[in-house]
Amino acid sequence: MHFKIAKSSTIAAELTVPGDKSISHRAIMLGALTNGPCVITNFLEGEDCLATMAAMRKLGVRIEHPEAGAVVVHGAKGRFTQPASDLNCGNSGTTVRLLSGILAAQPFRTRMTGDASLSQRPMRRVIEPLTQMGARLTAEGARDTLPLIIDGGPLTGIRYEMPHASAQVKSAVLLAGLFASGKTTVVEPAPSRDHTERMLEYFQVRPVRQGSAVSVYGGQTLESRDFKVPGDISSAAFWLVAAAAQRGSRLRIGNVGLNPTRTGVLAVLVRMGARLREIVETAEGEPSGVIEIKGATLHGTMIDGDEIPNLIDEIPAIAVAAALASGKTTIRGASELRVKETDRIAAIASNLRAMGVAVAEFDDGMEITGGARLHGARLPSFGDHRIAMAFTIAGLFADEETIIEDVACVATSYPTFEETLRLVRSGKAIPRKSAAERGTVGASVRRTRAGTSL
Ligand code: S3P
Repeated sequence: MHFKIAKSSTIAAELTVPGDKSISHRAIMLGALTNGPCVITNFLEGEDCLATMAAMRKLGVRIEHPEAGAVVVHGAKGRFTQPASDLNCGNSGTTVRLLSGILAAQPFRTRMTGDASLSQRPMRRVIEPLTQMGARLTAEGARDTLPLIIDGGPLTGIRYEMPHASAQVKSAVLLAGLFASGKTTVVEPAPSRDHTERMLEYFQVRPVRQGSAVSVYGGQTLESRDFKVPGDISSAAFWLVAAAAQRGSRLRIGNVGLNPTRTGVLAVLVRMGARLREIVETAEGEPSGVIEIKGATLHGTMIDGDEIPNLIDEIPAIAVAAALASGKTTIRGASELRVKETDRIAAIASNLRAMGVAVAEFDDGMEITGGARLHGARLPSFGDHRIAMAFTIAGLFADEETIIEDVACVATSYPTFEETLRLVRSGKAIPRKSAAERGTVGASVRRTRAGTSL
C-alpha cells in the first residue's frame, strides 16, 4: 500500500484526532490493576494499543470492546494468570516495556515477542532496574533484544537513577513498584511524559514527586473509574505543520491532549514563527482542549536539552517544518531517535535529501537547511508510522508528485490518517469561527501561548 500525494493549496479545516496512544496503553494496563470495571472512551484503535489489549486478555483480564473507541476493562486488583503462549507486542515499545513492570511481579513466567523492528530495540533499560527489584529477565536476542523472558516474583522497592529520560522505563519501574515492598523511587535526568503518574493519581494512588524524583509505595489498590482518552497531540502534529507552514492556512484541532509534558511541539512551532494558540478546556487528569493555528512564514530554530523528551515523537513532523522554514534548524541531544521504530535520524535525513533538502547528520541529531524548493520523490516509510505521515505532509508542499511506500504502518498510531488527509485536502472541513472570534472564550482560557495572537 502507498500514498500518492500532489501539491496542495492552503488548508482550512477543523478536526479532531484519534485518542492518545500513550494514554490508551496505560488506560488498559492501569484499568486492569483497579478493583472493578473501568469504561474507557476515545480509546485509540491503533495496532499498538490493540497489541496491549490482546496481551492483557491473554493474561486473563476480562476486556469488552463493544464498539470502536469504547473498551470496558474489568480490573481484578492486578491478579493475572499465566498466558498459554507468548505475548506478541507487535511494533509497540510501550507494550513491552510497561508490561515488563507488571510482569516482573507475577508469580509465573512470560515470554514477550515483537515484529522485526521491535526485535531490534534495546531492552536493557528495563531489564536493569527490574532485575534490581528482584525479578529475573532474560533477553534471548543477541543485544539485549526480544524475545524477553520474565520470571516474576516478590519485588523490593529501589531508588533508580535513570541514565536516560524515558517515560517507558519510568513507568515500568513505577508499575513494578506498586507490587513491591516499601517505596520505589525513579529519578529522571530530564522530565518525560507523566501520563502514568497522572493516571495513578486519577485511580486514587498518589505518587509522590520531589523535584526530579517520583515515588510510589507498594501494596496500594487502584480504584476503578471511567476514563476518557484525549486526542493525541502526536497525531495532531502532522496537521499543525501542514497548516503552520503555509500562509493563508487555518486549522483548529479540538479535544486534543495538552499535557505540558507533551506540548513541546507547540513551543517549537511558535519559536519558528507559527501563529498558534492553545486553549486548555479540561484540566482534571489529563489536560485537553483546542489548538488553533494560522499559516505563517516559518524560520529555523535550535532544539535540544530538556526539551527533547517533550517532543521526541514529533521530531519527524518538526523536521518537515524545518525544511519548509527559512534558515537552519538544529536538533541535538536526540540520540534516542536512533532506537525508535526505525533509526529516525537516518530516515529523516535520507527522505529530506531525496526531496532536495540539505541535511547534516550527527550521532544525536541533525541540521536541516530550510527554504529550498521541495521536489516530489518516491520515499520509503522505513516501516515507521511517523516517518510515513511526516513525509506525506512534506508531499503536500512538493512541486512534483510524492509517493510514500509501505504505509500500512500508519495504522500503528493513526488508522484514520488517510481519511483525514482526504478531508483536509477537499476543503470540506471548514473551521467554524474560533472561540475568540465567537467571543465565548472567557473563563475557559486557562493557558495561551504568549505572542501568538491569531
Ligand atoms: C512513550 C514514551 C516515549 C515515546 C513513545 C511512547 C510512552 O518513549 O517515544 O512513543 O508511552 O511512554 P521513551 O519513554 O522511551 O522515551
